[in-house]
Amino acid sequence: MTGPSIRISGTLFSGQTPLISGLDLMLPGERWSVLLGQSGVGKTSLLRLIAGLPCAAHLEGQITCGDGMLIAPRVTMMAQDDQLLPWASAHDNVTICSRLRGAPVQPNRAAALLAKVGLSGLQHRKPTQMSAGQRQRVALARTLYEDRAIVLLDEPFSALDAMTRQSVQDLAVNLLANRTVVLITHDPGEAIRLADAAWMITPSGSTQCDLPSSAMPRDAAATETLAAQAALLHQMRGHISGDAA
Ligand SMILES: Nc1ncnc2c1ncn2[C@@H]1O[C@H](COP(=O)(O)OP(=O)(O)OP(=O)(O)O)[C@@H](O)[C@H]1O
Ligand SMILES: [Mg+2]
Repeated sequence: MTGPSIRISGTLFSGQTPLISGLDLMLPGERWSVLLGQSGVGKTSLLRLIAGLPCAAHLEGQITCGDGMLIAPRVTMMAQDDQLLPWASAHDNVTICSRLRGAPVQPNRAAALLAKVGLSGLQHRKPTQMSAGQRQRVALARTLYEDRAIVLLDEPFSALDAMTRQSVQDLAVNLLANRTVVLITHDPGEAIRLADAAWMITPSGSTQCDLPSSAMPRDAAATETLAAQAALLHQMRGHISGDAA
């Protein structure tokens, strides 16, 4: 399964008010694209519009795939909040979408994914009996279970400790090879580690971020990764002070 490139162009509005003007993003196919930007700028709204989900904002413009085919049948999105059903077990949450579609459930695959995100033994637990990071990993397992060519991840690792985060990131990179992945993060280190391409989103559009020439996932402790992270942080500060000016 291979993911297409996605182009987003136009202006994002909240009612009559422009949120992001002059967007022109070309997200490469089969690669990880990372979106950064200040809280409230409109990142989640963009992801929801790509996914075709209801959204408070609207785009005057276009979202198209490089292969000319529709996005909707081949997309899945992991939301910023885990959106787990509180009364259902971890296993049932992972398989909920296929059950709603009337597709056959693959219990072994669901159990294997829960084990891979470090939750073996917890598959019968309900979300109310889990920590925030465990719930986030159930939500990631549900997204991976969907097995789609286009995968939208809205701050998917934000609740995880540093070591768990790194191993779950590596797992996602592995399992999502050849998919088109769009990742939102506030963490410059995560952006540099995982991006094939990255953009800073601001009310006046998008700016492409510089990345090391090495392939992702990058070594978080490597000198070039740390230098790129520092440069990105500097760029983020510049955008914040620029917006405030
Ligand atoms: N359900 C809603 N109804 C009305 N306005 C909304 C709703 N959800 C978001 N907004 C507004 O739309 C704008 C963009 O929100 P969005 O959630 O896309 O931002 P974001 O960049 O993802 O922020 P964060 O980094 O905090 O998640 C914000 O100004 C927000 O106040
Ligand atoms: Mg958001």
